[in-house]
Amino acid sequence: MSVRRLAPAEVQPASFAFTPENESWAQMLLTHYPAEKKASAVIPFLMRAQDQEGWVSRAAIEWVADKLGMKYIRVLEVATFYTQFQLAPVGTVAHVQICGTTPCMLRGAEALVEVCKRKIAPHAHELSADGKFSWEEVECLGACVNAPMMAVDKDTYEDLTPASFEAILDAFARGETPKPGPQNGRVGCEPEGGATVLSDPGVYDGSYRVHIVATGGGN
Ligand code: FES
Repeated sequence: MSVRRLAPAEVQPASFAFTPENESWAQMLLTHYPAEKKASAVIPFLMRAQDQEGWVSRAAIEWVADKLGMKYIRVLEVATFYTQFQLAPVGTVAHVQICGTTPCMLRGAEALVEVCKRKIAPHAHELSADGKFSWEEVECLGACVNAPMMAVDKDTYEDLTPASFEAILDAFARGETPKPGPQNGRVGCEPEGGATVLSDPGVYDGSYRVHIVATGGGN
């Protein structure tokens, strides 16, 4: 797990504020909470700040804290805990999050990290030379059955090999949006090679149920 700290002072903006559109959204959101519980909006506020700026700066954290009547340290704790929040500028096209937890590691995540080092930047949280890409290693993203996998924004790309991962990066570089999900042809998280249970077509056209009723459950 990487250490999550604020970006260096030299890249931190002097100030932050929601755009008028986001300010209207914030006022609407705050109506969802009792006034004394408005701190409950901290995660959506931080996510909106990130959507607006591309990452979460110190100024954004402090602005959100002031807006929600929270101590700065409380918002900092949230922003540094969740890897969904980027604490430094990220690639303008894609920020790649490689899952590095055990199932993905056992299935080849280290080879994907090597691709990141070669094609994006030598170190996590560094921008590529053209500023379009960045990467990091994160903990389990919840698709272990399709290991190894990675996420870009809200999409996940699963059952990766170094070759399919490189193809996805190349597609992003061409301005395309690669199709998320398993990259090896399987559907969802069914077994590789196709389903091994519930494979009788009668299960799906109703005839299998008729057979059970007719035989009382016998063969
Ligand atoms: S271990 Fe990689 S998604 Fe869970």
